[in-house]
Amino acid sequence: MTQVDCQHHINSLFRHLLRLDHFIAKTLAISERDARLRLIEKKVIVDGKISTDHEQKISRFSEIEIRGRVLQYAVQRHYLMLHKPVGILSATRDPIHRTVLDLIDCPAKETLHLAGRLDRSSSGLVLLTNDGHWSESLTDPEEKVSKHYLVETDRQIPGSAVERFRKGFAFQTEGIVTRPATLEIHAPRRACVTLEEGRYHQIKRMFHRLDGIRLISLHRDRIGGIRLPEDLKPGQWRSLTEKEIQSPRSL
Ligand code: URA
Repeated sequence: MTQVDCQHHINSLFRHLLRLDHFIAKTLAISERDARLRLIEKKVIVDGKISTDHEQKISRFSEIEIRGRVLQYAVQRHYLMLHKPVGILSATRDPIHRTVLDLIDCPAKETLHLAGRLDRSSSGLVLLTNDGHWSESLTDPEEKVSKHYLVETDRQIPGSAVERFRKGFAFQTEGIVTRPATLEIHAPRRACVTLEEGRYHQIKRMFHRLDGIRLISLHRDRIGGIRLPEDLKPGQWRSLTEKEIQSPRSL
């Protein structure tokens, strides 16, 4: 296999997590039975440790070695937070607008994708990574990771909105009813919204259903347990800490 073929092979194998015996069989072009034999014989090392578990899940972030031969070098993982300013597009490239990637200058930036978007007119916390499994666990509504937003509206928010947000709104285009959301009204035109999903223009559309209320500003300050730090100014980014990477779901 050439280096390009080999990379292609690895990429196509790793759309999802893969079982270790399947990876060995495919990579060495041997049967799965023979792959399991290599494991029983303690010939396989995953991330520096002997593995005998043929069901072990591996990814392109795992280093895999057999009898001193490296079958796969581990790709380094990257996890970043960015304070997205208003006017920047939540995309990795765009022919017209500046994107979040234009604000990041780490060497691996071309490998990153967004773990959830914000509208161009919104600001706040955006997470980027090259770990698809991690980003999926943040954006999948079934994982119930809460996202917290501060909003300012053009008109007074009626008290009845709290119940409407909790009950959900039918979105005809998608054929869904939004999941229960929490609305806390802090001032006549200021509130916090907590969602566990991220539909297209979701918060704007929910407010619009309340007699056409429009948003003046929308700012995300938390995703699960990851908060936008006060000292991270619009346009700035930093790597996540180990604790932040491990705890996106906890508050
Ligand atoms: N809801 C919106 O309407 N816009 C965002 O950017 C995020 C949530």
